Amino acid sequence: MKPGILVARAVFPEIIERLSLHFEVEANQDDILFTPDQLVAKLQGKAGVMSTSSSRFDAGILARLPDLKIVANMAVGYDNIDVAACTAAGVMASNTPDVLNETTADFGWALLMATARRITESEHWLRAGKWQKWRYDYFLGADLHGSTLGIIGMGRIGQAIARRSMGFDMQVIYHNRSRLSEEQEARANNARYVGKEELLRTADHVVLVLPYSAQSRHTIGAAELDLMKPDATLVNLARGGIVDDVALIAALKAGKIAAAGLDVFENEPKFHPDFLGLDNVVLTPHIASASAPTRKAMANCAADNLIAALGNQRPPNLLNP
Ligand code: DGY
Repeated sequence: MKPGILVARAVFPEIIERLSLHFEVEANQDDILFTPDQLVAKLQGKAGVMSTSSSRFDAGILARLPDLKIVANMAVGYDNIDVAACTAAGVMASNTPDVLNETTADFGWALLMATARRITESEHWLRAGKWQKWRYDYFLGADLHGSTLGIIGMGRIGQAIARRSMGFDMQVIYHNRSRLSEEQEARANNARYVGKEELLRTADHVVLVLPYSAQSRHTIGAAELDLMKPDATLVNLARGGIVDDVALIAALKAGKIAAAGLDVFENEPKFHPDFLGLDNVVLTPHIASASAPTRKAMANCAADNLIAALGNQRPPNLLNP
């Protein structure tokens, strides 16, 4: 008999077909956002789950799922999974690294450019019928070319963002848990390792691509925003909680920084309502990895992990130590 799995959120039909060759699949193609109790009920008797960051797997949930063998996240980030609790419960956990690096880096640049060059703000103004004439000082933004890009979190996505900056003749500085090798720094547009404070004081554009954890929560708060240049832009592609939204809103209102581009929010899909009243913020609904080929690659990668784990092989992207 095939093992039972749950695909906890809607996914491409071809992925369900692929999984059905190996498993009895219960798919949530209506994309209902299950409460923790509903998730536990759906997972009774199931050996695996394909999850996203909207489903939490902590010790309390895992204790109620004695048959579960693998949580295969369809995301590179896995802050929704307590990996130590999974290990203690004998459950494997996996993510989908690498397949989204380039697409996410592309989007980082889209958000950086939209934010620095005030693209959405000026488009809203035009659509509102306010464009009566050309003026020399309409929507003056910040240059990207020749500026200094500061990247906090220099993993594979951070490095892909840095590589793209070569075409803009930018200087790259970065801050990370550990320094890259000389070779990696050279490939990342000769990125220079600096302390967080120096990065915030020096960069014209700051991009956040670090993983979320209790330690990285509010990496950017009032004190950090105070260090930034008044004409700097801040882009967050990582996780919402990395930025203190209340402090960011205050900084944007007070002109402590020029603008922010945010793809992620602390309690998605909810976000602080004050963002809507600000012209100098570009808001997108967690779509940095959302190209069709990349989302399919992520789903296939999660499927590979499920198939390996429940076929008694090591999942290619196992997170447990
Ligand atoms: C990721 O892969 O972590 C993206 O943020 C989608 O959740």
